[in-house]
This record gives sequence, C-alpha cells and structure tokens, in this order.
Amino acid sequence: MQTTAGFGLLFLFQVIEFQQPRVSRDRWMNILNDDYNRCFLCCCLALILLMGDCQIGFAQEFSRSKNGMVATVHPLATDAGVNVLKAGGNAIDAAIAAGLTLGVVDNFNSGIGGGCFILIRTSEGILYAIDGREKAPKASHRDMYNRNGKPVPELSQIGSLASGVPGALAGYQEALRLAGTKSIGPLILPAADIAESGFVLNRVYANAIRSKQREIARFPATKKILFRPDGSPHREGDILVQKDLAKTYRNIASEGVSWFYKGNFASQTERWMQENGGILTAEDFSNYEAVQRSPIKSSYRGFSIIGFPPPSSGGIHVAQILNILENYEKLSEMTELNRNHIIIEAMKLAFADRAHWLGDADFAKVPRGLIDKGYSRTLASKINLRQATKVDSHGIPPNANDDLFSRKHTTHLCVADAQGNWVAMTQTVNTTFGSKVVIPNTGVIMNNEMDDFSAAPGVANVFGLVGAEANSIAGGKRPLSSMSPTIVLRDGQPVMMVGAAGGPKIITQSLLAIIRTIDLNMPLDQALSQPRFHHQWSPDRVLVEKSMPTEMVKQLQAKGHQIVKSTSVGITQAIAIDKNGIFTGVHDPRVPGKAAGFQRK
Ligand code: GLY
Repeated sequence: MQTTAGFGLLFLFQVIEFQQPRVSRDRWMNILNDDYNRCFLCCCLALILLMGDCQIGFAQEFSRSKNGMVATVHPLATDAGVNVLKAGGNAIDAAIAAGLTLGVVDNFNSGIGGGCFILIRTSEGILYAIDGREKAPKASHRDMYNRNGKPVPELSQIGSLASGVPGALAGYQEALRLAGTKSIGPLILPAADIAESGFVLNRVYANAIRSKQREIARFPATKKILFRPDGSPHREGDILVQKDLAKTYRNIASEGVSWFYKGNFASQTERWMQENGGILTAEDFSNYEAVQRSPIKSSYRGFSIIGFPPPSSGGIHVAQILNILENYEKLSEMTELNRNHIIIEAMKLAFADRAHWLGDADFAKVPRGLIDKGYSRTLASKINLRQATKVDSHGIPPNANDDLFSRKHTTHLCVADAQGNWVAMTQTVNTTFGSKVVIPNTGVIMNNEMDDFSAAPGVANVFGLVGAEANSIAGGKRPLSSMSPTIVLRDGQPVMMVGAAGGPKIITQSLLAIIRTIDLNMPLDQALSQPRFHHQWSPDRVLVEKSMPTEMVKQLQAKGHQIVKSTSVGITQAIAIDKNGIFTGVHDPRVPGKAAGFQRK
C-alpha cells in the first residue's frame, strides 16, 4: 500500500505545489478555499490510499514545461537530468547524466556493465544513431551454449559466459563527443555521490531482488551489495549503498572511459572471467568501439518516423508495422475491436520477418525491403478482417539479397531541451540484474546480452524469441535487440519521442504509443496508460494487459486470437511538444518514475 499511496500523495502535493501545474495557481486557490472541494479532495486522497491497498499501480505523473523535459523510470535519474539542464547543459548532457544515475538506482535494468542505443536529433536538425550495443567476445562461437549436443539456456543467461563486451560507456562518450557540451566527469560525479551515500529502495527494485534472490546468492560480490548483513535480500525502504560502484564512477571521472576499456576494469574483468570459466578478455574491451549508424527514416500519415537501425530490430519493425497499418485509411474510425485485431495481425507478420531476417547487419544480410511500402501492402493483403490468420513463415521483401542495411530488462529515457535537442535513449543489461555477476570490487553488474543471440535455429531465448542464421553467435558480432528509441517529426521538426523496456514488447509498445497519439489523437499521458497488447508471431498468442476490458478480450478470442493476460506489457517513457513549444513528459504509470521540466528563475 505504502508505495502506491505514497506516489498518489506525492502526485497530489506536486500538483498543489504548482511545480508543473496543469491547473493554474489561482484556480487551485479557489478550489482549496471551498469547503465542499476540500472535502472532495479528502475523499480523493482516501480513494488513493485504498487504491494503494489494492495495489492497483503507481499514480501517473506527467509534467509540462517550456524549458526542457526529462522522463525516466526513477525520480533521482530524472532529477539528475533536470539539474544538468538547469545548469546550462543540453539534452545530450542531461540524458547521459540521467543514464549514469539509472546505472546506480535502477541497475537491475541498465548500467555501465550493459549497452545502449542513443537516438539524437540536434537543434540543427542533425540525426545521430549511436550504437553502444554489447559485442560477443572474440572467442565466442555458435555452439558455445551447447552441452552434449543440446543448447543449455542458462549458460547464456547467468554467469561468466552470458556477458557481451559492455558498450554503454562508449556510447555515452560518443554522444557527448558528437553533440554534448560537457565531458563525462561532471556528469558522472553526482551519480557517484548517490552510490556512495545510498538511496531508498522502492518496491520495484525490492521486487527485482526478491524475484532473483536464488541466482544472486550464487555470486558473492553481487550478494554483498543486494543482501542485508543478515543474509536476507534487501527490502523496500532499505538504503542501498554501493561503495565499490562509487569508486568505479570516480575512477571514470578522473581517468576517463579508458579506465574501463583499456585499464583496471578490463584487466579485473579478464581475471575474474578466467577464474570462473568465462571468455571475455581485456583485449575484447580494448577493441570495443561505439558505432555511428544511419537512422532509419520512414513515414506514417504525413509524419516522419526516425528509428534505430540494426542491430536493433525496433526501428525496422516499428516502421514496417506502421507501413502495414497505413493501408487502412480509416484506422481511427474503425471499431476498437477491428483496430486491435488489425494491429495484432500486423505485429504477427512483422515478428515472423524478424525471426528470419534480423541480425547484426555488420554480419548478416538484412534487407532494406522490409520497410518498403509495396512489401507492406502485400503483407497487409494477408490480413483477414474477420479472423486471426495463421502465419507459417516470414515474407520475402523486395531485393532481399542486394539492398541491405549497411554492414546492429532495459529502460528507456527521453530528454529534450529548449534549444531543440532531443534524445531518446534505451539502455539495458538485458534481463533483471543481467548475468547476476558483479566483477568483485567494482560494483558493476555485467549484462547477459549473449542471450539475445539465437543459440540455435528455432531455439527460443528468455523472451520466447526465435531466430535464424542472421542472429547466430559469432565473435565480435552484436546480438539482435528490440530496443526502439524513436523520434517523430512533422515538417522536419520533432513533435514526439518514445521508447520502452520489455524485450520484444519494446517494439509493440513504442508502436502503440505512436498509433494512439497520431491516429487516435490521445494526449500522451492517456496514450501511455491505455491497456496494451503484444504479438511476436511465436508463440502464436496475444499478450494483453489485465486492464483490457473483458468484453474486448472475449471479442478478440471470438476472432481466433489466443489470449494470455499479463500485469504489464512494457514500460514506456515519452515526450511531446505542442504548437506553443510546451513540452509534455510522461513516465509510464506502471512504475514509480518521474517526468519533470523546470522553471527558469
Ligand atoms: N535486451 C533486450 C533487447 O535488447 O532487446
């Protein structure tokens, strides 16, 4: 109860304190001066407390400001970004500060032991897609997770063989070099302070530890951080102190990212890996480079959609599904049932292609034709309005052999500034606490991104995703990702950006946010709070949030969809701007994040 109620109270107080008011100060004064209204507010408060008891979810917080906006899944990370903006830094500086802070307060999702995709649109209109995705160690090979001829999924998920070479720090550095105004030192030090002095664990973090406690207990350096001295897992309300991580962050501040890639961190990691059956070497670290990619540009109903290219599958499939949906002119006027049915069918067709065609385009042939409008028309023609269609296999996009993309649990953040710089950044260590390995004395949680490769054709990874040759394991190759940072432009100007966490659900939830704002004209906060659904072709079923009305579920079932219910389908952050230049930032109401701008003095 406490967390939800706490966030409900916080929300009311924030509004009443006029930080980012939707309702003007005077109007609130009138409301509060009226006895009847005071009584009404008390009732609302009681209701919020009751909702807390029922654990309905986190009260939604969104924010408006004309001076810039930051939206992340944690208030401390949002504050870190806002502080940078207030001090004159730009959106790129602020995004990196927020990302580094998430690596302390939300490190079960992301951190410097993981990777990131950073999509930037600068105030001059330049687009950058910076690929800080992890790479397979040089000694990796396609059968590395086979034992006695059979793949052993745990090997790519937990322990010394699960990690790719982390790319997040190199990605941050590259973003700052290209478009930032600050160096990494001043951006990382406030996060080091939080690691040093500790922060209060929220329910989401405490649940993450509880759900993985058995695996965590296998790794003493990880256990030391995440368990109490009495040997039980840390709980909500505990203060989590990370002295080693603070030291690591301070070393990076004073010696630069080379301390990580070419110095102490790399050699310490090699030593631990050698002692524990791993293959990651200091040479792998030294060879790692973040890569600048060409963003994917597509269009949807007059908007330009800017997405992330391979090794993300997100940019391609968000564009592909939108292309399919564009064939339905009246999507917004259809019944909700027909609209949902068509979107689900489009998701299914796109994920069938993903399983076959997608992989790191530096290694695999990924056809550009996947986002061809004509190809999408062919796919759309396969959709039967009356019932769910079985999709047996992938399609064949035009010029599949010749016209290729040039030789690509998670969190998403958005930052925009008043100068016109926009940053959509998704970062990850893959599943909760990644490989569960902390390299001793560093505090750094290592990713388990190797599980995003396809261990063998048709063998599902932790997200149930299957893949083919295009996403097979090879030394130096990047595992396929679903991370989908997306920026939407109108007449060349940014109007919205979005991205999500949730493995393959990242693609579909970024997509739903776009459809709900563009087609259905919903305000951003409403677009993000609507019940979500997801189809990834295999398994052939639709995941729907429990909040989806029973009637809609029954109607989808009547069309032949196999429905599986889930508490939440993805965690999404987004920022939009209106005609008057006012930003709206929204964090996903399913977690206790924060969206905030600021007032200039
Ligand atoms: N590790 C989740 C993704 O990159 O898709």
